[in-house]
Amino acid sequence: MMSTKIDQQAIQIMTDNDRGGFTVPTAGLYPYQWNWDSAFVALGFAQFDLPRAWQEIETLVTAQWDNGMIPHIVFRQEAAGYFPGPKVWQADKGPISSSGISQPPVIASVICKLLVQSSDDFSTNKAALLFEKINSFHQWWHDARDIENTGLIKITHPWESGRDNLPDWDEAYIDIDTSQVGEYQRNDTQHVNSDMRPTKAHYDCYLALVQHGVSCDWDAQQIARTNPFWVADVGVNAIFIRAEKDLLKLALMLKKDAFVSKIESRIALLEKGFERLWNSEKQAYCTLNLRTNHHSHHINSATFLCFYAGVGSQAQRQAQLQLLDKWQQKVNHMVPSFDPYDPLYDELRYWRGPVWGIVNYMIGTGLANEGEEQWAEVVQRHTAKLISEEGFAEYFSADNGTGCGGGTFSWTAAIWLNWANQAS
Ligand code: GLC
Repeated sequence: MMSTKIDQQAIQIMTDNDRGGFTVPTAGLYPYQWNWDSAFVALGFAQFDLPRAWQEIETLVTAQWDNGMIPHIVFRQEAAGYFPGPKVWQADKGPISSSGISQPPVIASVICKLLVQSSDDFSTNKAALLFEKINSFHQWWHDARDIENTGLIKITHPWESGRDNLPDWDEAYIDIDTSQVGEYQRNDTQHVNSDMRPTKAHYDCYLALVQHGVSCDWDAQQIARTNPFWVADVGVNAIFIRAEKDLLKLALMLKKDAFVSKIESRIALLEKGFERLWNSEKQAYCTLNLRTNHHSHHINSATFLCFYAGVGSQAQRQAQLQLLDKWQQKVNHMVPSFDPYDPLYDELRYWRGPVWGIVNYMIGTGLANEGEEQWAEVVQRHTAKLISEEGFAEYFSADNGTGCGGGTFSWTAAIWLNWANQAS
């Protein structure tokens, strides 16, 4: 690969954010190791330092709890000024201090991609050593987040979706009692303009849910039964189906025959569950609140991940392509995280409108895998344009392209190196 100046900048950002075996998303705003950030970061490292790519995943997996969960934040080293830190989470159930919830399970898909990109003995051994741990991580999602065994994975906190501030969660906040949350000091708004961050009312809900987890001593079964927030997110479900399919590929590549039929039956269950997310009125896959049985009437960009998951009928996929077309007529930069026609669309506030490189990577990859090359190219090209013109921001306005949130972001750099820089 020919290395450009932008490639060099991306490599520099990842190197600067490297804290020795793990990478922070960006200095200051996010000073620890985050689950899906690290997985995407490994894709970036793989382009210039393959051993370091595997190390990023290995380090993350060392935080795995006995029950299989890989936490969303690993508090690997002291970092002043982050809220809510380990003392608030009180979730020290794993080998390393961590939060008590997880994040979208992209790890298996990343391992699969690393192995396809470089299938030498070194990578094969690394993948083989990780395989069973990732399998138990997947089993944890079924056991802890689908106790009803319906094939629909639920999240227990907006942060578990990785798309923390989506308007979809607003409706589910109604049942959350925030009266006992108490006083607290946020830190995010010291680093980033508060117009881009969640409101105080939403932050109160986030904390009430953390406090509920603490009151359950982070027991997954108790949380599943009692948590006021029990919501099926299209993103997590689509990402998980893809991850299970990639785990199956790994099982075949690594000759882990004993796991094959179990993974196959988990995939069948999940594919069936996913059908319930289809909202025929909106002609899109929408959030389903399992406490109220209410289907959201908002559309977010995860609906386009049906391609990434490899699900949906011909007609359903066609409807998503038409929707992409409709959104492209409304915004200048694809793909906005939230429906740009919805009154709740917000150009700058995070996850309520702006574009994320990593989400575009998954949407674009899915479209390409399923033969929708033209759309895949649009998504890849738009991502490349945003990054090359605005730099490695956390996310970008879909309207004027402005880079927002934190700067010098690891996953934006990684996605540039592994995918966006190959745009035609
Ligand atoms: C924000 C994002 C989340 C990400 C984290 C670190 O909380 O919503 O998805 O993992 O930042 O980048």
